[in-house]
Amino acid sequence: MKLVHLEPHARLDAHELVVVLVIEGAQPELAKDLAVRDWAWNGFQGEFREARTADSAHRRVLAVGAGKLSALDAERVRRLAALAVQKAEGAGAKTAALIVPRAIVDKLGAGVVGTALAEGAVLGAYKWEKGKTKPKPAKLETFALVAAKDMGPAIEKGRALAEATAFTRDLQNEPANRLTPSDMATAAKSLVKPGRITCNVIDEKAMAKLGMGLLLGVAAGSRQPPRLIHLVYKPKGKSRGKVALVGKGLTFDSGGISIKPAAKMDEMRFDMSGGAAVLGVFHALKSMDVPFEVHGLVGATENMPGENATKPGDIHTAMNGTTVEVLNTDAEGRLVLADVICYAGAKVKPDVIVDLATLTGAVVTALGHEVAGMFASDETLERELRAAGEDTGERLWPLPLLDAHKDAMKGTFADLKNISGGDLGAGSSAGAAFLAPFVPEKTAWAHLDIAGVAWGGANRDWVGGSMGSGYGPRLLMRWLETRG
Ligand code: BES
Ligand code: MN
Ligand code: ZN
Repeated sequence: MKLVHLEPHARLDAHELVVVLVIEGAQPELAKDLAVRDWAWNGFQGEFREARTADSAHRRVLAVGAGKLSALDAERVRRLAALAVQKAEGAGAKTAALIVPRAIVDKLGAGVVGTALAEGAVLGAYKWEKGKTKPKPAKLETFALVAAKDMGPAIEKGRALAEATAFTRDLQNEPANRLTPSDMATAAKSLVKPGRITCNVIDEKAMAKLGMGLLLGVAAGSRQPPRLIHLVYKPKGKSRGKVALVGKGLTFDSGGISIKPAAKMDEMRFDMSGGAAVLGVFHALKSMDVPFEVHGLVGATENMPGENATKPGDIHTAMNGTTVEVLNTDAEGRLVLADVICYAGAKVKPDVIVDLATLTGAVVTALGHEVAGMFASDETLERELRAAGEDTGERLWPLPLLDAHKDAMKGTFADLKNISGGDLGAGSSAGAAFLAPFVPEKTAWAHLDIAGVAWGGANRDWVGGSMGSGYGPRLLMRWLETRG
């Protein structure tokens, strides 16, 4: 589907379907040539997501309820655009146009509305059918947003952000045999932009030289060699500091020797969602500027129970010299992240680290699929990330990281152990507590546990369902845009 922007005076003759958004309590407002019989709207309330089609003399008109003006926000606008696209597709239209009402722009501003509409339209049309031999081609070829000229830049921004999100989704949805750690590195290399974005891939030999014993210990049970992806974005103007984005890139997590049960093990294709989110940010950075030097670091590997696999009780040494006894090989994400965070501290020396990881099943139990767990070392960072998540519809909620959680990760046979053990509970805090000592002392740090939100959310028209959600790139771009 091609998304286009038309100005209000443009003729809509070429569009088979015209979508009008109707504020609750108002009547659909239509230009003369679109007028339908008065009774066509009888009983139409304009409730949020209410939809009704009617025929004018020239074409079909679809009214979609926008709900009360007081309840209207960016998330609703995103949903309405996605719903409009899906209804147009369902109606078999090749071309459709959505007329953006003045009242919505007056309330939320052309910037918010344009971006949300474009995001909703593009992500609402998203499909992943690469696994099918006969994918169903979309009928809807063009979707036009009819709005004043000044909405243009916001629409372009929404398009760029949605395409970055779709890039993340594509990586997520690819099964593990079609997206190995090496394939992830190849995908990262496609994001290089001369003068702006570079990509360096560190292979297993270089990892051994760097002393990344934890990452290599996770990779040891697999035939697939691990990769550490290092992307760097240089801003157009003066840099306001260095940001490191770290992603867990487990292209498959079988659990290793501490193997997972069979049910839903296929979902562990998504265990690279944090890494895919980081790559998605760089997709966005190909066409958008932020005033920071941004480093993207993805630890990509499989976790498999091969003959060389780490055994429960094995001791491995991290890049910073810390020894770790691996009591459960299924708590592998924290091992990978620990070495990548060491690498960030030693080679990048960032002002702030934000990591994204599908780290614990416990966060799904605690928060479900609509909100990610956040552990932040600094209140400003926590506030900024939460606000960004409210803006983009990728919500975050703070969870506690106490000294007691850190103490519980002290090892018996080595410095640290990778699980807290016993019946201590607080599994997500334990994961964060394991990572904490690897973060350089004066570096601000946020750990986002995205195990719940990376897939499996409720239907919100532009997102939701059993495929990858594309959580992350929009959130992080919004944060980079608003960071103080
Ligand atoms: N990738 C999983 C976490 C996960 C589980 C994400 C289910 C999404 C859905 C992670 O590597 C893992 O296995 N964590 C263990 C940790 C435990 C062994 C301490 C878990 O959550 O069970
Ligand atoms: Mn695991
Ligand atoms: Zn995992």
